[in-house]
Amino acid sequence: MQCSWKAVILLALASIAIQYTAIRTLTSKPFQLCTLPSPHNCGLGDQETESPFERGAGGCDDYPFFYVNASRKTHILVLATTRSGSSFVGQLLNQHQEVFYLFEPLYHVQTTLMPRLSHSHNTADRRVMLGASRDLLRSLYGCDLYFLESYIKPTPTNHTTDKLFRRGASRALCQQPVCDAFGPADVNVEEGDCVKKCALLNLTLATEACREKQHVAIKTVRVPEIGDLRALLEDPRLNIKVIQLVRDPRGILSSRIETFRDTYRLWRIWRATGRKPYNLDLSQLTVVCEDYRSSVSTGLSHPYWLKGKYMLVRYEDLAKNPLPKTKEIYDYLGLPMDKNVEDWILANTHGSNEPSAKHKFGTLRDSAANAESWRLKLSYDMVEYTQTVCQKVLQQLGYKAVRSVQQLKNMSISLVQDKTFVPFL
Ligand SMILES: *[C@@H]1O[C@H](CO)[C@@H](O)[C@H](O)[C@H]1NC(C)=O
Ligand SMILES: *[C@@H]1O[C@H](CO)[C@@H](O)[C@H](O)[C@H]1NC(C)=O
Ligand SMILES: *[C@@H]1O[C@H](CO)[C@@H](O)[C@H](O)[C@H]1NC(C)=O
Ligand SMILES: *[C@@H]1O[C@H](CO)[C@@H](O)[C@H](O)[C@H]1NC(C)=O
Repeated sequence: MQCSWKAVILLALASIAIQYTAIRTLTSKPFQLCTLPSPHNCGLGDQETESPFERGAGGCDDYPFFYVNASRKTHILVLATTRSGSSFVGQLLNQHQEVFYLFEPLYHVQTTLMPRLSHSHNTADRRVMLGASRDLLRSLYGCDLYFLESYIKPTPTNHTTDKLFRRGASRALCQQPVCDAFGPADVNVEEGDCVKKCALLNLTLATEACREKQHVAIKTVRVPEIGDLRALLEDPRLNIKVIQLVRDPRGILSSRIETFRDTYRLWRIWRATGRKPYNLDLSQLTVVCEDYRSSVSTGLSHPYWLKGKYMLVRYEDLAKNPLPKTKEIYDYLGLPMDKNVEDWILANTHGSNEPSAKHKFGTLRDSAANAESWRLKLSYDMVEYTQTVCQKVLQQLGYKAVRSVQQLKNMSISLVQDKTFVPFL
């Protein structure tokens, strides 16, 4: 048949397109979705149209104490991606006396919904997942920690659990009255010590501790786009302030290669051999940068629903000037920065040799140079590739592309442009 070669080419092209779509589908979101009822049969996530005040009538648990002091409380949300320094920013809030801080509570939503995931990446599924995330955030800002119970495995009994993800990262959960293992003098309980010495977490006590504090702060790397939170930001019962934390994607890549050894195995081979493995799934990075660009674009375009609620922070700026930058963040939040926060910064960002200062935040310990240490770790090829894929977001955020190995490795030239991101007031 005369036209058969054309048919073959067409088929080949179609199959490439299908494979590409499949790869993109499988990797395009950090989590997958399924239709699963959210806690207490509260409905499948919040509907954008639902009046926030009708929730109590919808068959959900009551929120007896929910919004009593809502106008007073600030609900802080640190929105980030993995390996962008969000643990550090979380600590800047966690250390404050009047802040009740939770580290990645959405982890539990993700792990509960994950096993049921259908790989079909459809928008309805995505809505359910994000709806569940918003419901959980809303409840936690109201200090309703019981709401978490539907997502914790095994299900807590008598409102106690030892399975809260990274419990030890929350100061309030390692202190009296929630935990009796340490006295008031133990100001800086190490995360590991907390987990070892504190008994089961009593969620009733945790709820009370949350209510005692003036403000609630939550950090998450599990919301891909700030626009996904719009319903929460517009909820009149809440007083949310978003801190969108960003970092040079080349630095993020380098840090992920160190941390997620399985997922980034081929990248490590590239780094070690200097040659890009033919089977490296490049969509991994494409998707990261595309999501990232989209979220940053939304934030920086200053939509009205973010007014008074949005600040973008570059990790590198924080690393370079931790104290003044933290002060700026607290000014934006409208809170006085307390001495605990200041002490913690001094202890964790200056190259002190105290043995007591653990090196958990080592990336910041030696300040600005470390924030750019990826330049000594990635090969020029990898950097060049990343720059091409992430070009837009590099420009948006003021990170300079390099054009030669010399430029990449010469640490006396910073690749972080001076750029001011003022809070959207
Ligand atoms: C929960 O509390 C009840 C009443 O105090 C007690 O009988 C039960 O054994 C407790 N369950 C567990 C698993 O501790
Ligand atoms: C948890 O703390 C509450 C409040 O103090 C207390 O009433 C309850 O008995 C505690 N639960 C358990 C299982 O110890
Ligand atoms: C609300 O604030 C007042 C003081 O401003 C405090 O006494 C009260 O306990 C707070 N209520 C709740 C539920 O946090
Ligand atoms: C690094 O850059 C500085 C500033 O441009 C330059 O003076 C210096 O010679 C460069 N060093 C190397 C090794 O290229």
